[in-house]
Amino acid sequence: MKKFYVTTPIYYVNDVPHLGHAYTTVAADVLARYYRRAGYDVFFRTGTDEHGQKADQAAKKAGEPIEKFVERHAMVFKELWKKLNISFDDFIRTSEERHKAFVRENLNALKDKKLIYAADYEGWYCVPDERFWMEKDLKDGNCPDCGRKVDQIKEKNYFFKMGQYQKQLVGHIRVNGNFILPQSRRNEVLGFLEKPLGDLCISRPKSRLPWGIELPFDKDYVAYVWFDALLNYATGDLHAGGDKTKFIPCWPADLHLVGKDILTTHSVYWTTMLMALDQPLPEKIFAHGWWTVDGKKMSKSLGNVVEPGKAADVVGVDQFRYFIMREVPFGLDGDFTVDALISRINVDLANNLGNLVSRVLTMLEKYRDSQVPQRKSVTDDEDVETENALEAVAREAVDRYKRNLEQLEFSQALSKMIVLCDTANVHIVQSAPWELAKNPADAAKLDNVLYDCAEMVRIIGVMLEPFMPETAEKLKRMLGLDSFGEPKWGELEGGEKIVAGEALFPRLDDKGMAKIRETLAPAVPKDAVAEGGQITMDDFMKVDLRTGVVLSAEPVPKSRKLLKLLVDIGTEKRQVVAGIAESYQPEVLIGKQVLVVANLKPAKLMGVESHGMLLAANDEGRLVLAGTWEHVKGGLKVK
Ligand code: ME8
Repeated sequence: MKKFYVTTPIYYVNDVPHLGHAYTTVAADVLARYYRRAGYDVFFRTGTDEHGQKADQAAKKAGEPIEKFVERHAMVFKELWKKLNISFDDFIRTSEERHKAFVRENLNALKDKKLIYAADYEGWYCVPDERFWMEKDLKDGNCPDCGRKVDQIKEKNYFFKMGQYQKQLVGHIRVNGNFILPQSRRNEVLGFLEKPLGDLCISRPKSRLPWGIELPFDKDYVAYVWFDALLNYATGDLHAGGDKTKFIPCWPADLHLVGKDILTTHSVYWTTMLMALDQPLPEKIFAHGWWTVDGKKMSKSLGNVVEPGKAADVVGVDQFRYFIMREVPFGLDGDFTVDALISRINVDLANNLGNLVSRVLTMLEKYRDSQVPQRKSVTDDEDVETENALEAVAREAVDRYKRNLEQLEFSQALSKMIVLCDTANVHIVQSAPWELAKNPADAAKLDNVLYDCAEMVRIIGVMLEPFMPETAEKLKRMLGLDSFGEPKWGELEGGEKIVAGEALFPRLDDKGMAKIRETLAPAVPKDAVAEGGQITMDDFMKVDLRTGVVLSAEPVPKSRKLLKLLVDIGTEKRQVVAGIAESYQPEVLIGKQVLVVANLKPAKLMGVESHGMLLAANDEGRLVLAGTWEHVKGGLKVK
């Protein structure tokens, strides 16, 4: 049996999981599910990276013993993966004994081969990145990677003779065109390797950082967190009763999925470590792109971190999985906006896929007593042609879908599923089953239209299964199937008892959309203009900006953020809903002077109409209302 071993990075436990972590992990899950179904022996590993300075500092800040801190955070990741239906086979924590033993074993092996040596290190150190830099590498005296300040240090450390593998590594990357993907990233790595490759400092003195795996040959030191973390991919699997000091039996990995931020550590540090250990290299390292949120870097201080658990709660697990896999071609950077999320759900899932399933099942219920009819052999040329055409479209879509998935083109793979939804929807309109149903002489024709539609839905089911496992289960139940079977045309036998009635993806109405916006929209109001962009005076004059006086204020029920205000804007009293409940008590607002955008299109927020918007400054999440210096009446134009 062919094997498929896929990994995600093991995530740091100093922070809560966010959209980026979910992205890599859902992608790995889709592949694991796809290859399992294709009959491969799949092993899917994810986990947490628990040593190093970041975890140590975060635990100290939280005032919690480190072991407890990392355990608690690892569990947050594990729980989230459960919620998102991540079908990992192994969740590895680097603080586990099996991993520590494995790291010590490999440190000893390299030391015995004289590939690790001690030397004095003198230079600059970036604490957040846990990386050493030479004076010449610094950018304006700061870390060239993250731009933060670096500390000068001098200390004895242990080094791995990484530099001597440079030629071998370049050769491997050149010969194996698909070793590092996408190609643009491969070129970056080759560019990086044009400069001489130094040796890698793989230790940290315990006096500075006690939290790590102690070096077996010097108890005053722990292993550098990256040296420790990368080895996780090969740590033996205790559950399988393996030898924890040996490489995992399914090594080499078929695919390391990583973000572009950690490509160098994987393609250079890890691969040279493997060469030194005389182990085969992974088949493929794929570095995907970076998510921003509303055009900005995701960060706690901006308050725009997208929490996957929250997102899945409010839009549904499969809707969330679909969106992140569909929205951006894998490998490119992407931007998360609530509008895009809502639009994918309504356009692709509710209107197209959901609508198709509901139409097909309703027709089967209505015209064929909830049973899939058998396809009748007919001589009608038109009918035979239709079947052939549908079969050809389905075959082509499935072939391309497979090729896409095998090349990690998730979004393109899903677009093939959407093509089939479109085709089936068009087929329904063109064949007008409701007309055929009127004429008993068309019974066989109607059977065939209904069979073809059901067969399309089944094949769509095969395609969506790795992406949307819960939906797949639901759809199987609806089609009266235990398994979707193969994506080959004609596998439905007829006679399957279908269950109509349930909507696969309900369309989001105003209330649903408002709830999503309320839950996920970043606390920061969107900048009207992208950074650096300019507007004309005309653009500005379009905004009817006026002074207002708050007449009343009350919380919007069930909302943490919203207040409902009545504002005197001169010509009228306006109801405005403002997201300022976390910054102001309602009573302090009464009589306050505010600035109102009076010609904003009305919108419903949590079901409450809002006719305008108040201006406020965002002070790291705390909103401070804007007004005029002197108290003036409501309704004055602001220019
Ligand atoms: O680097 N967009 O862990 P980490 C897309 N422990 N993906 C993102 C992302 C974003 N904005 N932010 C994070 C570490 N990711 C090390 C790894 S492996 C031996 C050790 C994803 O918690 C992406 O996969 O900082 C990225 O590579 C990873 O999270 C970094 O996770």
